[in-house]
Amino acid sequence: MGRIRILPDQVANQIAAGEVVDRPASVVKELLENALDAGATRIRVEVEAGGRKLIRIADDGHGMNRDDALLAFERHATSKLRTADDLLSIATLGFRGEALPSIASVARVTLETATGEDAAGTRLEIAGGKILHVDDAALPRGTTIAVADLFFNTPARRKFLRAESTELSHVTALVTHYALVHPEMHFELVSASHTVVSAPPVTRTAERIYQIFGKETLGQLLPVAAEIPLARAGLPEPPPWKKDPDEPARDPGTLRLTGFYSKPELQKLNRNSIYIFVNKRLIRDRLLMHAITEAYRNVIPPTSFPVVLLFLEMPPEEVDVNVHPAKTEVRFRQNSLIHDFVRDSLRTALIKARPAAGFLSALDSQPNASPSLMPPASSPLPDSDPEAFEGERTGAEPFQLTPHLPPAVPGNLPFGAGRFGLGGFDREAWGEAATALFQPSGAGQCSSTIDGAASYGQVATDETCLVEAEQAAANLNHLGFLKPIGQLRESFILASGEDGLWIIDQHVAHERVLFEKILRDRQVEHVQRQRLLMPLLVELKPDQMVVFARIAEELDRNGFEAEPFGPQTLAVKAAPVGLEGAALERMLAEVIEQSLADSDQPSQNHDLTALKTRIAASIACHSAIKVNTALDTMRMEWLLQELAKTEHPTSCPHGRPIALLYSWKDIQRAFHRI
Ligand SMILES: Nc1ncnc2c1ncn2[C@@H]1O[C@H](COP(=O)(O)OP(=O)(O)OP(=O)(O)O)[C@@H](O)[C@H]1O
Ligand SMILES: [Mg+2]
Repeated sequence: MGRIRILPDQVANQIAAGEVVDRPASVVKELLENALDAGATRIRVEVEAGGRKLIRIADDGHGMNRDDALLAFERHATSKLRTADDLLSIATLGFRGEALPSIASVARVTLETATGEDAAGTRLEIAGGKILHVDDAALPRGTTIAVADLFFNTPARRKFLRAESTELSHVTALVTHYALVHPEMHFELVSASHTVVSAPPVTRTAERIYQIFGKETLGQLLPVAAEIPLARAGLPEPPPWKKDPDEPARDPGTLRLTGFYSKPELQKLNRNSIYIFVNKRLIRDRLLMHAITEAYRNVIPPTSFPVVLLFLEMPPEEVDVNVHPAKTEVRFRQNSLIHDFVRDSLRTALIKARPAAGFLSALDSQPNASPSLMPPASSPLPDSDPEAFEGERTGAEPFQLTPHLPPAVPGNLPFGAGRFGLGGFDREAWGEAATALFQPSGAGQCSSTIDGAASYGQVATDETCLVEAEQAAANLNHLGFLKPIGQLRESFILASGEDGLWIIDQHVAHERVLFEKILRDRQVEHVQRQRLLMPLLVELKPDQMVVFARIAEELDRNGFEAEPFGPQTLAVKAAPVGLEGAALERMLAEVIEQSLADSDQPSQNHDLTALKTRIAASIACHSAIKVNTALDTMRMEWLLQELAKTEHPTSCPHGRPIALLYSWKDIQRAFHRI
């Protein structure tokens, strides 16, 4: 007798469940996605004991008739896909036909569903994959699925579940994510009769962010919107002999990006405050993470991360969603195009907004991991890919957007009903704040497109206009018009402007000016070098010598002339203008040291852009005006004007703030005048 046997369905389902369902949050994810696919406008999630005991999701979607309700629990039974070709253009969140049978194989499930068209609805009970009852029931249109005693028949899996509060926070994060991407829908999350999330429909994502995270978070975010027509379709065209000559050429469609990104002053310890949605699907993607990090390069420190909510829309053929059992990863057909589009759109938006950092908010703007609802360990998203998170500091809470939820209530539940709780939604407070936040300050502003867009069409949406209007007052475009009053300890320039008192760090301001100039000059091969009267001899260790050989060409392009002078000595004969003596020596040592450290990280090793910016940043730092240096008014004015011309006057190439505004409003408030 042969050794090979086909596994019974029940076992196969449990194996599939291992990939799809690993904790209550993943059940919630699958059921939420089903409700969304069913066209629901209102979704209510209830959990008990963090979802370990019970998860109940009710939607008002199209429901199922009796036959479908029974079929839904069969493996590979789906209404969302018919042929393999459909896989190339999936417009629904689900398509594998695996979620319900997987969940039903490891829990006790009750399904109540009605289409609103049939005489009766259906009530179905299933436990450990076995159907126990099927009955008619009088039900309104929609579907309610209750999943009780998760992993009751797989104790080994149950053991891996974490504390109730941890599981609840995972569930909360999930509901929050989906609420963000569907502001037009009503989401509720209730835990043991306490409302954790209550988000009634709103028209804009900004309002949803306000509902969920509060005014403070929204105030730290800036809107972005951009789009480009795709030049070609990502899927290969059929060969000419298979093409129907009468068929009109297919429009490859448009690539669209909307979302919010943080001002440079808001810095996080890891990437967990970056949310990427592709065609309304929440995903983790290394490529897009990289694009976002690139957009912020030399604007925030390399070890810090921004907060970004990114909604990408593209024709479904452009993205392969069938690469991960939990559907949290995707593959783009035009990889580098999408990467560059995201990077450049964000970068352009950052350059355009030039947000000013408030003096008071900068005080506590150290990269932080504020307390949050997201659990510190693993999350429902596959964030455990060690490579994807390389370089991040550890030991930090991973989620920083703190949902604007009520304070803790007694007992082991971290949440209670509050301001936006069921029935407790404070419309007046919301109305007031919303008016302040979303009132456009000038007509015409909304109809104009954002100027300064470099390579991609930045577009003005209602969203960007309304939030921009709020931000407009405090940006750094006014820097060139400031009046220097004097210096503080010969290190900080004090300047007065319409919007208040500005304090500018003279060293980092000059550093930013030089940094951008060096990069520009390097680009057009226009670097000015000066010959040193005497060559500068620099001692290097053997490993430093090796690194020098690797970066020598790039140093040469930046105005250096240096060559080995004996086995362990370097003779520097020329250097960029403005860099000499000890500063030159320190600069070289710094670049060589950093490149040496980087050679341990293979991914960074050959990154020419990184090397270019590192050298530029180092030259800028060592030749910039120092602190404790007296400056006359003319010099201060010159510096402010030059700073105003830079792309990122917000922060120095190492990510430190340059200019802080003590706003007129704060000053008046502090003197009790308002
Ligand atoms: N809330 C719901 N409302 C209406 N129909 C539903 C609902 N949930 C599930 N269904 C139906 O049951 C089918 C099976 O659901 P299931 O989640 O197992 O698979 P899927 O969504 O098609 O694919 P995936 O496994 O990728 O989620 C769906 O295709 C859909 O037709
Ligand atoms: Mg599904």
